[in-house]
Amino acid sequence: RRSWAEPWKIKMVEPIKTMSPEERQRAIEEAGYNTFLLRSEDVYIDLLTDSGTSAMSDRQWAALMLGDEAYAGSRNFYDLEEAIRTYYGYKYIVPTHQGRGAEHLISQVAIEPGQYVPGNMYFTTTKLHQELAGGKFVDVIIDEAHDPASLHPFKGNIDLAKLEDLIQRVGPEKIAYVSVAGTVNMAGGQPISMENIKAVRALTDKYGIRVYLDATRMMENAYFIQEREPGYEDKSVAEILKEFCSYTDGAWMSAKKDNLVNIGGWLALNHEDHFEAARNLVVVYEGLHTYGGMAGRDMAALAIGIQEAVQDDYVRARVGQVRYLGELLTDWGIPIVQPIGGHAIFLDARKIYEHIPQDQFPAQALAAHIYADSGVRGMERGVVSAGRNPETGEHNYPKLELVRLTIPRRVYTQAHMDVVAESVKAVFDRRHEAKGLRMVYEPKYLRFFQARFEPV
Ligand code: F0G
Repeated sequence: RRSWAEPWKIKMVEPIKTMSPEERQRAIEEAGYNTFLLRSEDVYIDLLTDSGTSAMSDRQWAALMLGDEAYAGSRNFYDLEEAIRTYYGYKYIVPTHQGRGAEHLISQVAIEPGQYVPGNMYFTTTKLHQELAGGKFVDVIIDEAHDPASLHPFKGNIDLAKLEDLIQRVGPEKIAYVSVAGTVNMAGGQPISMENIKAVRALTDKYGIRVYLDATRMMENAYFIQEREPGYEDKSVAEILKEFCSYTDGAWMSAKKDNLVNIGGWLALNHEDHFEAARNLVVVYEGLHTYGGMAGRDMAALAIGIQEAVQDDYVRARVGQVRYLGELLTDWGIPIVQPIGGHAIFLDARKIYEHIPQDQFPAQALAAHIYADSGVRGMERGVVSAGRNPETGEHNYPKLELVRLTIPRRVYTQAHMDVVAESVKAVFDRRHEAKGLRMVYEPKYLRFFQARFEPV
């Protein structure tokens, strides 16, 4: 097979700096061993997140000049609405400032206090908004998703037996909706199959329950379906995306991910009742229903980002770069979540730091050590991210104790990936000397963002 490369070339560059090991050690101490608290200036290769970190295209930058900054009825909103209808297929659109703005709206309109929200693994902000609306999140993902070594091709799938069991146990009227995520972030960027979403649709139809999709990384999910699911090899990512969405009643979106913009979000709905309720609320929390917290120019760039992100050669290069890094690490015997996901490599900190107990935050420590080694910044996705049980106040102890190395879209080169892999290897080779951490400051909500630590 011949090699293929990215379907773009670089037109503008942003210099990044390197620091000495002593400077990096000081920086991570000052940041309380929390990579979220580092200054970005002190980071060499920033793999904290793929959120809002994409490089926009020349067409998107040009579109910024065509922003219609009218308070009401901006032309850019109608272009955005058309792009979402064309590529995702939903009827009604509510713009929001980013994903969690849309999560807030859908949770408020679709959840009544005391209802359950089953979903394919939690995501931090999604679950918090469901809880703030009085809902109770129930994980109904297949068991394989909690096993980093399982090679199941669709580890994002919903376990239909778990879902139906919950519906029958609590009664269909106690289910707010099924919360489905494309490429499940916390499971390692793992996709859900078309067969599974069809079955979820059939099951929920039986009970009159709606299905709402977290479409944040749905393009990448569509690519995995093309690659892995029989019958889809000759379909385009665009066709697969639209078919998948057709089995759901609506979606929320953090456009900062696979819509290729630095800020933005949206909620898209097929039913008028929830649409009307959400459009009433958006003016309270986000902005008018034709901008929702975005500038006109942001919506212009977003409408173009949607078209660019759904191109097959783009998604292949995107997922291919993540896979390149993952295969290097796998070849060197470093335990990562398998199969390699769509947006990130997830290092298995539980395996790498076998000697550090989970209440000493092995993944938090691993992320700090990688930064100190090379200036590569990743993030903890383990016990710190999982927070506390609101009823008992105890830490939630997730099976997955991971460090996420998230690849921004269209930003880094293959040589950057080599540097990252070498740093992870260096830290892995010294794993027996590593020590755990103690939390010395803990905020009430989404603690992983601002918590501080010290070595034990
Ligand atoms: N849903 C998923 C699956 C996400 O990954 C995120 C954000 C959100 C919703 C919320 O969207 O940030 O625009 O408000 N994930 C980021 C990350 C923060 O780094 O994974 P937002």
